[in-house]
Amino acid sequence: MTRPLVVLGGAGDLTGRLMLPGLAELEDVGELTDDQTLLAVGREELSDDDYRDWARERLTEHAAHVPEAARDRLLARLGYHQGSVTEPADLRAVLERAGGVPVVYLALPNTVFLPTLRALTEVGLPEGAAVAVEKPFGENADDARELNAVLAQLLPDEAVFRVDHFMATQTVLNILGLRFANRLFEPVWNAGHVERVDIVFDETLGLEGRAGYYDTAGALRDMLQNHLLQQLAVIAMEPPAAVDAGSLAARKADVLRVVRPPADMARDTVRGRYTAGTVDGQELPDYVAEEGVEPARETETYAEYTVTIDNWRWAGVPFRLRSGKALGENRQEILVRFKPVPHLAFGGTPPEAGLLRLGFDPDTISLELNLNGAGDPFDLERTTLGIELPPRRLSAYGLLIKEMLAGDPTLSISAAEAEESWRIVEPILAAWDAGDVPLREYPAGSDGPG
Ligand code: BG6
Repeated sequence: MTRPLVVLGGAGDLTGRLMLPGLAELEDVGELTDDQTLLAVGREELSDDDYRDWARERLTEHAAHVPEAARDRLLARLGYHQGSVTEPADLRAVLERAGGVPVVYLALPNTVFLPTLRALTEVGLPEGAAVAVEKPFGENADDARELNAVLAQLLPDEAVFRVDHFMATQTVLNILGLRFANRLFEPVWNAGHVERVDIVFDETLGLEGRAGYYDTAGALRDMLQNHLLQQLAVIAMEPPAAVDAGSLAARKADVLRVVRPPADMARDTVRGRYTAGTVDGQELPDYVAEEGVEPARETETYAEYTVTIDNWRWAGVPFRLRSGKALGENRQEILVRFKPVPHLAFGGTPPEAGLLRLGFDPDTISLELNLNGAGDPFDLERTTLGIELPPRRLSAYGLLIKEMLAGDPTLSISAAEAEESWRIVEPILAAWDAGDVPLREYPAGSDGPG
């Protein structure tokens, strides 16, 4: 049985920046079967050769870490079909050309998932086919519910991959090992010992020509509705019975279900938008001056909110999530701050309590502790135990595509998780739309709106 990958939106930014590089890595490590093909579908008028030229350029730009011979082998597997992804007749032609039992990947803006899936339902898929849907999963909770209903008509749930590539990152997967393969952390992993958790994903990247998608999404829908909530879920979930799709999805959904949205939107949420500035020596214009941006939409490029989790383990512990574009530093980390000791036998100013820091790319784990000082043994000194993990051979997209082609949904997001994640952010979006929280400006290259 051949398992072609059919990429709807195959000439788009996501395909060029992340999927093709992931596939090139799989090619390089020999994970693609001889008969593996990829058929890209897009509106642009391109021949197969034009598409391969486009793909070669994207790979040169984004997959320089993969040997050229592997990139060339991947190019030979690619084909292109022009068509509209919401037209049943076009999709029928695509599926006929692809043949076999396809994995159909919606590498599309979230606004077109629903019409695309409806068109696919009209055409039907062969038994054993799979569908992957990118994030954010729809535009709001109603949309997510409808997407789930259409998907349920189209395929069995284990053949649906709701994609969140953060689940396939080394940092997030390491949380599972750290928490559940050691006796050390789990006993203190609760409100009795943890003061607060911060999940930070600051990026130096600006809009990067993605206005078509980003200007209708914004930072909250782009990052805090999905990636950062998935991190929260893995940090906060109960131990799974097994590391498989059923257990992980159920334990994560349990947590998301009891995340309480912020009570006071003006106090507990921040929305910001960048103005002109310099990031890494590069000048960025005002966000609103970027091509394709509609200033009246008031799209935020920075979002932050603080929530609590209503269960026995976490009641009262604040979880703060923040992410923004065009910031001064790529600060991407999860911080678990422990409570101070109940009694400090040492004199002087009490030191900061212990802190566990899980950093992204390069992946680092560090534990900040208070130890006896080197000079005066009765003084306390801050010391850090830390490791930097070697990079993995497969990027998150490489791993996700590998799992998809193998039919393993362990890293996929469940229907319930997708809907619960919208439930958490919808009150924030509503308050922002109603103007209850001012849109604050921050210069590109700064630390954000403060
Ligand atoms: C994507 C967002 O899902 O994640 C981007 O759409 C963001 O806006 C990206 O830049 C961050 O993830 P990574 O893995 O590219 O650092």
